[in-house]
Amino acid sequence: MKINVLLTPSNLDELSFSGKTTVIIDVLRATSTIVSALNNGAKEIIPVASVEFAVKVSGGMFGGLTLLGGERNTKKIEGFALGNSPLEYSSRLVKGKSIILFTTNGTKAVVKAKFSKNLYICSFLNLSAMADHINSMDTDIEILCAGRNNSFSLEDTVCAGKLISEILKNKKDLELSDTAQASIALNKSFGKNLFKMLCETEHGKLLLENGFEEDIKFCSKLNTIHAIPCFSGNVVKLLVRE
Ligand code: MLT
Repeated sequence: MKINVLLTPSNLDELSFSGKTTVIIDVLRATSTIVSALNNGAKEIIPVASVEFAVKVSGGMFGGLTLLGGERNTKKIEGFALGNSPLEYSSRLVKGKSIILFTTNGTKAVVKAKFSKNLYICSFLNLSAMADHINSMDTDIEILCAGRNNSFSLEDTVCAGKLISEILKNKKDLELSDTAQASIALNKSFGKNLFKMLCETEHGKLLLENGFEEDIKFCSKLNTIHAIPCFSGNVVKLLVRE
């Protein structure tokens, strides 16, 4: 079993994901929001790569029970019901709803990897559930870090390293690419105090400037949700495990 980490989605072709098992990470905040919304009872998340497409599909599709969510430059988009704060996605608001979600990096990464055979959503919140599932699959894994504006982001790579370290607890014979080994090293250096690490990243600082400290606290919680969002047929739903 081989694990590779893609440090950013830039220069990757959609078709390169065909047949692969891919795990997407965007700790701040898209994948934390998706995990949280589904855990709070949302029916499904429809990730989209542009605001225009979000507005278009919110029209008549999905039985009229849709909510529009997402951000531009960390802030809620005008006319949308929700921003991209995981704390907004409470059971009261999202239960039974289809949520069309646009975010600057995270949902674009999901859409880019849409041809994967299996496509999962990971954050610190559901990291051990994700590791258990990967261990049960015994297949090669691509971890795609959403990054920031097509560049590297520390928080996503630390999360990738922590995920691989968790998988390694039960599987010793993993073949690790150079980026997978580097991610493990970054987790060793930066992954002990997740809240502190997140606050000191470029995107963390921007979120702090915009008043989202509570979001960072929430996104830094490890293994609080035992759910695995899985993309299939253009929507993300919770994986039902036997
Ligand atoms: C993104 O997809 O770029 C992020 O989730 C941005 C954010 O809302 O913090």
